Amino acid sequence: MVNERPDPLCMVGAGYVGLVTAVCLADADVHVRLLDIDQARLAFLRQGKAPIHEPLLDELLTKVLANGRLTLHDDPAEAMAGAAVIMIAVGTPPLGDGRADLTQVRAAITQAVRHAGSETVIAIKSTVPPGTTASLQSLCRRNGRTVPLTVCPEFLAEGSAVRDFRQPPQVVIGGDDPAACERVAQLFGHLEAPIRITDSTSAELIKYGVNAFLALKISFINEMAQLCEFTGADVSSVADGIGTDERIGRAFLGAGLGFGGSCFPKDVRALDQAASYHGQSFQLLRAAVEVNQQARSRFVAKIQRALNGKLARRRIAVLGLAFKPGTDDVRQAASIDVIRHLEDLGAVVLATDPVACANARPLLPNTTLVDDPYSCVGGADAVVVVTEWPEYVNLDWARVATLVRRPLVVDGRNCLDADPLVELGFTYIGVGRPTRRPRTLKTPLSGAKRAAVPIAVR
Ligand SMILES: NC(=O)c1ccc[n+]([C@@H]2O[C@H](COP(=O)([O-])OP(=O)(O)OC[C@H]3O[C@@H](n4cnc5c(N)ncnc54)[C@H](O)[C@@H]3O)[C@@H](O)[C@H]2O)c1
Repeated sequence: MVNERPDPLCMVGAGYVGLVTAVCLADADVHVRLLDIDQARLAFLRQGKAPIHEPLLDELLTKVLANGRLTLHDDPAEAMAGAAVIMIAVGTPPLGDGRADLTQVRAAITQAVRHAGSETVIAIKSTVPPGTTASLQSLCRRNGRTVPLTVCPEFLAEGSAVRDFRQPPQVVIGGDDPAACERVAQLFGHLEAPIRITDSTSAELIKYGVNAFLALKISFINEMAQLCEFTGADVSSVADGIGTDERIGRAFLGAGLGFGGSCFPKDVRALDQAASYHGQSFQLLRAAVEVNQQARSRFVAKIQRALNGKLARRRIAVLGLAFKPGTDDVRQAASIDVIRHLEDLGAVVLATDPVACANARPLLPNTTLVDDPYSCVGGADAVVVVTEWPEYVNLDWARVATLVRRPLVVDGRNCLDADPLVELGFTYIGVGRPTRRPRTLKTPLSGAKRAAVPIAVR
């Protein structure tokens, strides 16, 4: 193994994965050239601002731009020339049938091959279906020479991406050229993580396998949650008990509105499509997707039932738009489906999020999006928690009680403590746990003084 860090690195794509990886590697003393075609994104970055919300990212970005370890580029020739590694972190969005669209990956590889030097190795960081890296080797021939192509899938989670980069459970690198794989491995040599080098198809399947398995865990506990509702058990207690078995683990056993985001839904479907291509019917994956979708529609039905079957003109305050806390990403977020469904049934929806309102706005043209959660709940017939932001868990619920029209909380993430809410006069409805009602039922508009509050529309 050569003990030199490959330097410079050209990172293609400044999205969630490319930007975080580029900034973290630059912080680890690699010279990184970050290339993107999105001028608005680059303009943001040039001001030292991250175009995405990710804890720790802003300060690291400022640091590596100032010390020159990270440079920004829109010209592939300038960014790729002489790069030891060209790493590709462009999007692989789903096609209509669920297959991964590899257009951006192919275009980036073609560019990389054009500008590669004699020592350059290409590494695909984007999530690509099994067999992709092997099949794209044909794009990597130039002047009778083959530019080595490897795959180095990313496992970071939005909301904790910097921490995940620094403390990964492992680094996976796939390819059939051992020297090229070692070269990519050198980039991550400073991390205290095992480096697994394998063939490219196995590396691709490890990535999909991790996401698919975690999605299965979530859908499993959501099926259990339904059974808990039928039988009167509490799914949080059940999940604690199941998760204490160390062969299973408690992570990803949170019942609620299921999985969303740019990865799990798309990767589960893409893996299913890859299996179908080989004549395999991967039943578990289909069930996981179906259960996930049902979790959203069941949640809306639950709100409707709690409002005596009537959603028309009911005012629903939705807390949380991001697909999970810590990110501004609303791709495939449960909030979008839930809100659209509520609106289709005639509800008037106000929604809030600490950071994701701007990203959600184009997707929710009929929804009033407000920054202030207390404005959001003003006059509400139901307060609905869709994203378990600590800001909402720690709301001044006594104040909320004075603002709503009806004291009803429907918690789609089981993140609230029911006892104090019930004490405040709320009816609390979670997922897979018994509904809690205040001892003395209050009629709408009775009890705590409920004021009409002005709504600050952004
Ligand atoms: N977001 C996640 O949490 C996550 C985690 C693990 C893996 N992944 C995978 O990583 C890949 C990237 O995901 P993302 O969320 O960062 O995507 P993204 O959409 O946020 O970013 C992709 C970026 O690539 C840029 N781009 C596209 N074509 C380009 C080109 N030819 N040259 C330069 N830039 C180009 C786009 O302008 C965009 O800024 C996907 O395959 C995804 O599945 C994502």
